Amino acid sequence: MSAAGIVAAAGSGLRLGADRPKALVPLAGRPLVAWAVETLLTGGVDEVVVAVPAADRDGFAAALPRGVRLVEGGATRTASVRAALAAVRPGVDAVLVHDAARPLTPPAVVARVLHALAAGAPAVVPVLPVVDTTVAVDPAGTVTAALDRSTLRRVQTPQGFSHVVLAEAYGALPAGEELTDDAAVVRAIGVPVRTVDGDERAAKVTVPHDLHLAELQVRR
Ligand code: C5P
Repeated sequence: MSAAGIVAAAGSGLRLGADRPKALVPLAGRPLVAWAVETLLTGGVDEVVVAVPAADRDGFAAALPRGVRLVEGGATRTASVRAALAAVRPGVDAVLVHDAARPLTPPAVVARVLHALAAGAPAVVPVLPVVDTTVAVDPAGTVTAALDRSTLRRVQTPQGFSHVVLAEAYGALPAGEELTDDAAVVRAIGVPVRTVDGDERAAKVTVPHDLHLAELQVRR
């Protein structure tokens, strides 16, 4: 089974308070996007396409190994993944979509996703249990219900798909429509999504505290 990786890296560094796109912010001296690409390649993906902000193409090219292809991202994550997906070679069997913002994802997570795809799943996401009591609230912030956390999972990336299925799902998604992850895009055409174990180290870097935790993790 051949597999391509897509890295969504075209977001801004706004919530991180960074002076550059988040994916170019260094973790232990290396940009987040370089960590994410390495994880995919070490985990078993054959080639990688990265969606980058148009204005920063040179910075990304300098940060990544030769052979990694860059495409211009869009205004939303969905648009960025759509652009990268169009650049994946037609003959590739599987596509894994990963966030540049999850730099310390262990390659074993990538391998688990690939294994489930090779076993025949059309769509696979790594998940973790919900450990906190989880509630629903109304617009005023008042609790309206306690959710049964035993049925809930936190979804991470990389998310893996049959290439044909992911292309069909993006083809069916109206232009401009934004979904929060790629599993939601394939579920919209009725494809079942399997789960494999995620990993706490695959946490997303969003605010400065997350970057601080990631720094502590790599220094250990
Ligand atoms: O903003 P957030 O951290 O949820 O973004 C998740 C991932 O999607 C990040 O790696 C970010 O670079 C990417 N993204 C993108 N294009 C956008 C917005 C976000 O590739 N327009």
